[in-house]
Amino acid sequence: MEQPRAGLTVVDHPLVQHKLTLMRDRSTSTAEFRRLLREISLLLAYEATRDLPLEATEIETPLERGRFPLIAGKKLCLVSILRAGNGILDWMIDLLPSARIGHIGIYREPRTLQAVEYYLKLPDDLPERDAIVVDPMLATGNSAVAAISRLVELKARSIKFVCLVAAPEGVETVLRAFPDVAIVAAALDRCLDAHGYILPGLGDAGDRLFGTR
Ligand code: URA
Repeated sequence: MEQPRAGLTVVDHPLVQHKLTLMRDRSTSTAEFRRLLREISLLLAYEATRDLPLEATEIETPLERGRFPLIAGKKLCLVSILRAGNGILDWMIDLLPSARIGHIGIYREPRTLQAVEYYLKLPDDLPERDAIVVDPMLATGNSAVAAISRLVELKARSIKFVCLVAAPEGVETVLRAFPDVAIVAAALDRCLDAHGYILPGLGDAGDRLFGTR
């Protein structure tokens, strides 16, 4: 698939696009939004882990011995940007049960839209791990840059960023600061509004996921 920009992979699989459209629809209920997020998170995890190295391992099927591929002991760390990131994280864990989990609490200061960190808990062996940061919305990019800066500071082996919807502004901000970070998104939307919301977007992902306002 042709990509809009180096460093950004937009997953244009029909299942992902269909589910995202249902999530965007304002009449979609909280329960349905959650279910769709679960399904789409698994599909995004599939894309984000596409380059995991495999190694041939000898096993015995019921019929004969042979060498077959297994993931080559790759150590992962899934990092959720609280709170909406947990909506993706919870389901990615299903697919990657051995991954370590980190949480970074960041809120957007409503006037300046700057990222403010209020919580941090990460595994201490990050230099041996490939980090996948998850947050449904890549809007201004300020939270993403704050989270990624922490992981760079703590020497994560590599860093990917997985989101549902990205704004061009957020993608530029992240890739200008961290050209080596790979972003995986279900969509690249048009722009941000004056409050830093993505247009057309899907609204406030945390509120829609948790049924708050
Ligand atoms: N955060 C959200 O939840 N939605 C947006 O559109 C932007 C940031």
